[in-house]
Amino acid sequence: MKHDIKRIVGLTVLAVMVIAAVVMGVRVARLVDLTYVEMNTTPTPEPPVRNVMQVTIDPNAPTPQPVLRSGSQGEEVWQLQTRLRELGYYNSSIDGQFGPGTKNAVIAFQRQHGLDADGIVGEGTKAVLYSDQAQLKATPAPTALPTAVPEVIPVWVRSDGLPLLVNRENHMPQGYQPGELVNMADYCPSNIVKIKYSSTQAERVAVDALIAMLKVAHTQGITVWQVSAAYRSESYQQQLFDQQVDEYIDKNGLSYNDAVSATRLTVMEPGSSEHHTGLAFDITVPGVSFKGTEQAEWLADNCWDYGFIIRYSADKEDVTGILAEPWHIRYVGLEHSLPMRDENLCLEEYIAKYGSY
Ligand code: DAL
Ligand code: ZN
Repeated sequence: MKHDIKRIVGLTVLAVMVIAAVVMGVRVARLVDLTYVEMNTTPTPEPPVRNVMQVTIDPNAPTPQPVLRSGSQGEEVWQLQTRLRELGYYNSSIDGQFGPGTKNAVIAFQRQHGLDADGIVGEGTKAVLYSDQAQLKATPAPTALPTAVPEVIPVWVRSDGLPLLVNRENHMPQGYQPGELVNMADYCPSNIVKIKYSSTQAERVAVDALIAMLKVAHTQGITVWQVSAAYRSESYQQQLFDQQVDEYIDKNGLSYNDAVSATRLTVMEPGSSEHHTGLAFDITVPGVSFKGTEQAEWLADNCWDYGFIIRYSADKEDVTGILAEPWHIRYVGLEHSLPMRDENLCLEEYIAKYGSY
């Protein structure tokens, strides 16, 4: 009986111990499980691993190419200008100087190729420029220019189809009346171009081409433009001529004859100025001398694509008899401006070559 009691007590203790062990086991298992879940949801951040690059200098690696930008000069710039000219982006002289003209050409190239248009020739631009992905400069969208072929031949087109030539030897035709003059201050968007004098007028066809051209210049970051002169009557031209003569006499002490000769180098006598046609503009930048500005460079490179010519260029002074005027552009129409650019002909030479009278 005593043994039975001991066995019962022993079995009970054993049972209690087994139960206790099971309960503890479940708790421990739960605890481990919870910990795992928590660890899964909020992982301890990994300590940052420092990327230590092993730099070894390869003696045979090519030398890194220099970045070309405004102010760069030398052989690399010379090659760059040659390549840009080959592709039609650059029309100025190849002189190895990275000036505003080169920068504009680089920007135009970068834009056309979807590159960052910063005017700087780094590795990326260079890689495309010298690859067979490099495209010729696209001609401007036809929508930028008047599309309809006029049924009536404009007054400024000669009977042989060439643009009117106005100079000392070829005065305005008797009784010439410009086509359709518009008031530029009213007609031109003021955010595109400032018209210096509120009464300035010009032929609509030329003003339309001017606006189209300057809108494109804006998209290329060349934004400050002013028109200082356009259409002039003969009496107004006389006034300008006389003013200049008086100034040479008063300020420079020239004789009347010398003052007239000096004036003739920069101001046409009434009847011989292109401004009478309503197709010529003097383009300026307010407050600065136009020559050498990025606007002057842009105009010299791009005006041809919009039917304009730089009428009095430095290399044609002996033909035109007028000192270089980078600001004076003349509308002649795209069919003439492009061959004049490509053949480097001023209007006198172009008419002499292709005119039939
Ligand atoms: N300045 C230009 C030559 C003109 O007077 O027509
Ligand atoms: Zn002018």
